[in-house]
Amino acid sequence: MKEHRLTIVIFTFLLLQSANVFAQQVGKTDAIYSGLPWYDQSGKVVSAHGANIVQENGKFYLFGEAHSDTSNAFAGFNCYSSKDLYNWKFESIALPVQKSGKLGPNRIGERVKVMKNPFSGEFVMFMHVDTLGYKDQFVGYATAKNIAGPYQFKGPLLFKGKQIKKWDMGTFQDDDGTGYLLTHGGMIHQLSKDYKSIIAEINPAITTGFESPTLFRKANTYYFIGSHLTSWEKNDNYYYTAKALSGPWTAGGLLAPKDKLTWNSQATFVLKIRGTKDTTFIFMGDRWSFPKQLSSATYVWQPIKFKGDSIFIPQYLNAWTVDLNTGTANPKSIIHKTFLPGDQKIILIGNWKNSTIDSIPITRSDETKASLSFDFNGKQIGLYVALLPDNGYAKVEIRDKKGNIIINNIIDLYSKSPMLQLAFLSPMLPKSDYKLTVSVVGERPNWSDKRKSLYGSTGNNITIAKLIIQE
Ligand code: DGJ
Repeated sequence: MKEHRLTIVIFTFLLLQSANVFAQQVGKTDAIYSGLPWYDQSGKVVSAHGANIVQENGKFYLFGEAHSDTSNAFAGFNCYSSKDLYNWKFESIALPVQKSGKLGPNRIGERVKVMKNPFSGEFVMFMHVDTLGYKDQFVGYATAKNIAGPYQFKGPLLFKGKQIKKWDMGTFQDDDGTGYLLTHGGMIHQLSKDYKSIIAEINPAITTGFESPTLFRKANTYYFIGSHLTSWEKNDNYYYTAKALSGPWTAGGLLAPKDKLTWNSQATFVLKIRGTKDTTFIFMGDRWSFPKQLSSATYVWQPIKFKGDSIFIPQYLNAWTVDLNTGTANPKSIIHKTFLPGDQKIILIGNWKNSTIDSIPITRSDETKASLSFDFNGKQIGLYVALLPDNGYAKVEIRDKKGNIIINNIIDLYSKSPMLQLAFLSPMLPKSDYKLTVSVVGERPNWSDKRKSLYGSTGNNITIAKLIIQE
């Protein structure tokens, strides 16, 4: 009898231990969270936009544009790695700003894409190179022996000795290892066997505009996604399908519900996760935030749904997981304690107005430095906001009980299309007492493009819907 009880005790202990193994670790994140800052291993925000992912040595390598909050100039291409697609480790500036030349100071370098050449084992990086005013573009390339670089910039990618004078570009590697260059408008070029030049035009332009060209294949169907031409503003991305890269391409419609602006993002890449039970295709998009592209541009990564040859992202998932063994994707519910505007624990300083949007209570302010603060004991805190056309930047700060700032971010609450979303979630913290403060920066994302069209927010408001904490 005693022995039996001991077995139960040991069994329970082992069960608790294994539960602990799966419990979320301090400093880590446990899902793909769209639309909020991601932190690398040293707590810095992940800056990797217009990105793509290469799988190598059991890891995912994310390549993307490094950004600053002050200028649009090329700031290098960053490389991060991850084993789970949730936690990203900064590896290197794979291609830094060059001392001089076409990717030197005060130039444009965007939409970096890396492919491993299966024939030579070399890593080849492609990018949009331009003047700061976007007036002299071409597609360039760089090469490296090791995935994280350093990459050597080689200049323009040539076709019959001529440059490809296009701006937005992407790449596609087919199942047989052949590499392709995609350019805005829907043009496809085949790369040479070493990926360092172009040997053929495979498909002429499908349409006008069609920026951020993004192509993937499922079975014997090719899907080609692109956006309208609206500078850093988000729009309804759309797609075409074909049975061969040379077409004919059939219009498939919008990728997300009309006017949701592709869930407020612009396509950059589709990552395929093939597992034992399912294959998940991850739409990777950028939620740009001009001018604060370093602090406040975020990532919108969502699983794509298929119906025959149609694709769609019907709902926005604040959080979801993908099982890398089975390949299955699942929404993740964020089970936390909720605090709504009006709660006594929420301290408002300055001029705030309470109201509702679609019967959801909100509180908002556009007074610079007006703040909302909240003392809590727990492990994690998050912020749901209403993204609105007259919202601007909010400063989010978390202090520990000694008053030291442990998290400090600027987040962007603007969206041309109103939506209620999670806009901030702290990494897991050691359970303790903390103070969250969210304040109005008094600035907003707005800008003009080379045609002098004006874009962006009409106000500096920040609009808070609820706070969530995990105790
Ligand atoms: C839209 C493009 O897709 C981006 O890569 C960038 O070039 C912006 N335009 C600049 O306005």
